[in-house]
Amino acid sequence: MIKKVAILTNGGDAPGLNAVIRAIVKTAEHNGVECYGFIEGYKGLLENNYIKLDSSTNASGLLHKGGTIIGTSNSTNVFNYKCINENGEVEYKDLSDECVKHIQDAGFDCIFTLGGDGTQKSSRDFSLKGVNCIGVPKTIDNDVAHTDVTFGYNTAVSVATEAIDRLHTTAESHHRILVLEVMGRYAGWIALESAIAGGADAALIPEIPYDINKVVEKINQRRAKGKNFSVIVTSEGAKPIDGDLVIKQKLDDAGLDNIKLGGIGDKLAHDLEELTGMVSRNTVLGYVQRGGTPSAFDRVLSTRYGVKAMELALSGIFNVLVTYRGGEMGYVSLEDVVGNNKVIGAVSGNTKESNIRRITMDNDLIKTARSIGICLGD
Ligand code: F6P
Repeated sequence: MIKKVAILTNGGDAPGLNAVIRAIVKTAEHNGVECYGFIEGYKGLLENNYIKLDSSTNASGLLHKGGTIIGTSNSTNVFNYKCINENGEVEYKDLSDECVKHIQDAGFDCIFTLGGDGTQKSSRDFSLKGVNCIGVPKTIDNDVAHTDVTFGYNTAVSVATEAIDRLHTTAESHHRILVLEVMGRYAGWIALESAIAGGADAALIPEIPYDINKVVEKINQRRAKGKNFSVIVTSEGAKPIDGDLVIKQKLDDAGLDNIKLGGIGDKLAHDLEELTGMVSRNTVLGYVQRGGTPSAFDRVLSTRYGVKAMELALSGIFNVLVTYRGGEMGYVSLEDVVGNNKVIGAVSGNTKESNIRRITMDNDLIKTARSIGICLGD
């Protein structure tokens, strides 16, 4: 019988985190289980910093709130933690045993890890040290293996769609090419779905390195029909067939992915202006797409994820990731989700190095986009 559990939220925030927390707390209380929250993800676990969560006080009124009430950090890898030694040199240490001790001392029967691939990799590694872990797949990128939809993704697509709608009016009034750069890391889900929903003319995604001439061709076809404007959506991880990813910053951390993407939108706007002679501008959607209130879909999905996570704990099923497949909640072992992930960037999904979930060419979204004339840059 479990009596005491803790939640941590790790990695970039995503709409729906608070709704998952609320669902776990409510289900826990309903079953006589006490619930706590580590502050700022794995950082709180390392610093032994946690608070009691209670549906009549701090875990109430959360459904519509963005962010996470217990905070998050996306640079804390406790298995390879950046320290400064007495000579002032940088050293990486495995501090995970300290975390395990904190969990044991507090008597937590299970830790719920709300996060993406990096978070779930640490979760799997803690499970190998005997900690009962249950992962919940959070990321706006929708790139977690073995689950159809991660929470936060639907809201990100809705925000990006609204941005495309708004860009359309300026593009049309000024006869411009307007580029929208969206997030998603090495997967093009946000770009492709929002391009379909917003009626964009081209969607450039990491899964299909683009030929700029194909995009120019599409813009010129539209001009020939009297449409003197175009809206292009690009994933931050899109790259030209003859070029590289555009990187904003190399991060000094020892996580799975130490690259901060960004800048492809500017490059596209510049190249398209040169090749078409049309005024071209770029908009980077940035953190707007992962902040703020979750969509109704994400509120329901997050609630289902939270309830299922607690139900698994009550049934004694640990070291798994809660999944949503074919409309049903389920679970898969953490090993299956992140077991092989050695690197995240620049390799395709379902390989030995990384099984992040990317769009495959047989996905119906690809066919749909092509059928309605969205240029995918190939
Ligand atoms: O994984 C979520 C995400 O928002 C990505 O889409 C993006 O590449 C990254 O996080 C940005 O991370 P940061 O918060 O470190 O800027």
